[in-house]
Amino acid sequence: MNEDELHWQSPEWVQLAAQWRLEHGVTYLNHGSFGPAPQPVLAERAEWFARLERQPMEVLTRQLVPGLERARQALAGLVHCRPEDLVLVDNATVAMNVVAGSVPLAPGDEVLLTDHEYGAVQRLWRRRCERAGARLVLCRLPLPLSGAEEVVESVLAAVTPRTRLAVFSHVTSPTAVVLPVAQLCQALRGRGVATCIDGPHAVAMQTIDLCVLGCDYYCGSCHKWLCAPFGTGFLYVHPQRQGGMEPLVISWGRTPEGRPPSWQDEFYWWGTRDPSAWLSIPAAIAFLAAVGWDRFRSRTHALARYARSCIERLTRLPAFVPDSEQWYGSMIAMPLPPLDAAALQQALWCEEQIEVPIIEWQAADGTVHVLVRPSCHLYTTPEHIDRLCAALARHLRR
Ligand SMILES: Cc1ncc(COP(=O)(O)O)c(C=O)c1O
Repeated sequence: MNEDELHWQSPEWVQLAAQWRLEHGVTYLNHGSFGPAPQPVLAERAEWFARLERQPMEVLTRQLVPGLERARQALAGLVHCRPEDLVLVDNATVAMNVVAGSVPLAPGDEVLLTDHEYGAVQRLWRRRCERAGARLVLCRLPLPLSGAEEVVESVLAAVTPRTRLAVFSHVTSPTAVVLPVAQLCQALRGRGVATCIDGPHAVAMQTIDLCVLGCDYYCGSCHKWLCAPFGTGFLYVHPQRQGGMEPLVISWGRTPEGRPPSWQDEFYWWGTRDPSAWLSIPAAIAFLAAVGWDRFRSRTHALARYARSCIERLTRLPAFVPDSEQWYGSMIAMPLPPLDAAALQQALWCEEQIEVPIIEWQAADGTVHVLVRPSCHLYTTPEHIDRLCAALARHLRR
């Protein structure tokens, strides 16, 4: 999709964008952090919620289990795994906490993370390692990134005989890079290291084929790019690792009659709660499937690519990754000159009503980078990007 095609507003794209009721006057370029859902998904959720309030027994004791099964099956179809290998959780953070609580770690063991990992994920594993007497190893990825092999080499160079687990993002948070997860899983498997992929940004933005990836754990959120309601995530666990899995909450569990117990039973019931968000996951999958996964990805990548070229023109600072769908999808993180990141983000919101993350990211060598990370979804237009660039230009001149 070239720039002209991007600017040409077909009635179909306009109609699709109208499915989101975003606050009037706000330029919302932060779908990557918090992705709002379109009307059909919100309607489905509202319907489940209304049913729950009309007849709680009907929903919670009769419709919940089949509804969750449908959601799990739809999700398993999207990420290409068996429904038996996946459980629904609130978000990727919960999924990662379940992994951290279940993976055995002994004193002296090592857990390997790249220096592009999400702050809360680093924090979780640091704490888990401290408690076990294990060591957290942060591996520096080359910058700029130019080849999958060099990413794999730098991760493998940090592996030792004590490395038990490697945790890496499918799409990184501060830098928005699509990491070569298939090659990483394959190489780490060859070294006997278990793999946990932190994948909330990849759900819908990337093709996920868990059968082919062969990772041990995959943590996802559906309330980002997939546009399911907030509070929807999943955890995939490879059949060989399911034995020791423990939920964060011990409650009733579930052992359906006539079926042998499985690791998933413990994850069905987290105490009484509103399950309408989970039950609406199939509606979110159906919404984007109707648009077409490839069309969704190419339209939003074209917008991210447009943002990349406009910001690069403005700052004359090159992106960290080659200009290719292999390296970035629907969002792009572009370097800015040294500045106060929090102050710029606040100014863009207060003075321009633009919601966009301005990120201060410290690489493992200590270098601090300031990045602007616009996200592009189906309601995003080139005019939103132009507005961001004009505002950035004004603020960078100050
Ligand atoms: C790479 C990465 N991991 C984990 C998370 C946490 O996701 P959630 O808040 O949905 O649990 C985020 C959130 O932005 C993220 O970017």
